[in-house]
Amino acid sequence: MASISRRSVLAGGAAGVALGALPFPVWFARQAAAAPKVRYDASSGPGKAMLVSLANGVDAMSKLPESDPRSWVFQWYTHWVRSDTTKQAEMARIFPDPTTSGYKLAAEMWDMCQSHGAVGDSVYHFLPWHRMYAYFFERIIAKLSGDPNFTLPYWNYLDTNLRAIPPEFRVPGGPLYRAERNAGVNAGDPVDKNAPGAISPSSLAAQQFVDGTLAGSGFSNSLNNGLHGTIHVLVGNGQNMGAIPWAARDPVFWMHHCMVDRMWASWNLAGRKNPEDAAWLGKEFVFVDENGQRVLAKTGDFSSMPGYVYDTYVPVPATIPRLPVPVLAEALPAPTPPITLGARPVAVQVAKAGASRTLSSVAARPALLVVASLSADQQPGVIYNVYIDLPPNASPAQARKHLAGTVNFFGATGHHDVSRKPTGLTLDVTETVNKLASAGKLRAQPVVTFAPAGAPAAEAKPVVGGVSLVRG
Ligand code: C2O
Repeated sequence: MASISRRSVLAGGAAGVALGALPFPVWFARQAAAAPKVRYDASSGPGKAMLVSLANGVDAMSKLPESDPRSWVFQWYTHWVRSDTTKQAEMARIFPDPTTSGYKLAAEMWDMCQSHGAVGDSVYHFLPWHRMYAYFFERIIAKLSGDPNFTLPYWNYLDTNLRAIPPEFRVPGGPLYRAERNAGVNAGDPVDKNAPGAISPSSLAAQQFVDGTLAGSGFSNSLNNGLHGTIHVLVGNGQNMGAIPWAARDPVFWMHHCMVDRMWASWNLAGRKNPEDAAWLGKEFVFVDENGQRVLAKTGDFSSMPGYVYDTYVPVPATIPRLPVPVLAEALPAPTPPITLGARPVAVQVAKAGASRTLSSVAARPALLVVASLSADQQPGVIYNVYIDLPPNASPAQARKHLAGTVNFFGATGHHDVSRKPTGLTLDVTETVNKLASAGKLRAQPVVTFAPAGAPAAEAKPVVGGVSLVRG
């Protein structure tokens, strides 16, 4: 133990040379080579100590002029500029002189959230861009809070006991507090109170980083459009976590993305591989370091965690369960026509399946529910539960047996500078389908029901482009 802390002191000294004094690759290699810092569960003792520094740092960022690239607003806008104005208007307001370096930084840094953005937009860069964003934010907090050992804590919502946001975020008037959260969230209710089953680690079962075969399959897509978006929508409304242009205004955003990053690190730790092509590795994004210096960060340098580790990792399922799947089409059948969702459940019969077979006569393959093209005029503010063959007037316990997964519309609404860009999602429904089949409750032509978990915003008009149920 003693030698480890001695080593971190020495390494910390070497890594402590300011970026401005060194070329970026040299500086960066030193950061990564130093004894790694540990990121903690926000509910643990060390995590709670980090939340104190986080609050101090957020407070300090909020007191900087907006023109400082380390200020709260500048960093929030790096994700996306608020939706009641435009990037151009905010640049002109904060930087009246367009020849300043701040103006140019804003031009290249703002509105960059991958994969919901306009520039370099690819689901491919969802994980590395948010890893970089959190990394440089962490450095800014460490500097401005006066706690050089600060590491970003994560919100471990996969633990069923930690479904409420931590109390530190619920102190009215405190730096970590935001009023614009969903009902009950600031009272300490579990965020999944109305949506049991919504928070699931199922995307971690994916074997491929990106799988182009079905809408929204593969680890990156399924985490992005699944659990990641679900947490956004469960925490905040359309002027907070629930909408891309406002999400990074809420300090909860950083704990959430630290957890997303931990899930990615866990997935890699289980031996699953990131892309290795030049388009992924070579992609560059602009950030600023803790001194407000421009940094050009490369995805390839963030393919593994640069200079930090997590206190613990998420268990990753070894394989996707491959079970016999009855009565499903072999090939992707034509999806249903678009389905407009609203305040009441909507049921739709999925495309006609292949010839009916018995459970014992079919191959061991996953059953997949392909949900294509989610789009919405506005953020509905609730997630939708997806059921297979839900009986009328089912009790909550009965309904649970028919629950196949959830969909959210976090990435599915239009935001300024970007037209509405539909996203899709593939849900692994093998277990639900098999249990229903064994109980004789799966129809030859199954019916899929989308039911809102709460009251959706009236003007939202969420639309599902179509669904099909297939064998993977
Ligand atoms: Cu860029 Cu959690 O979104």
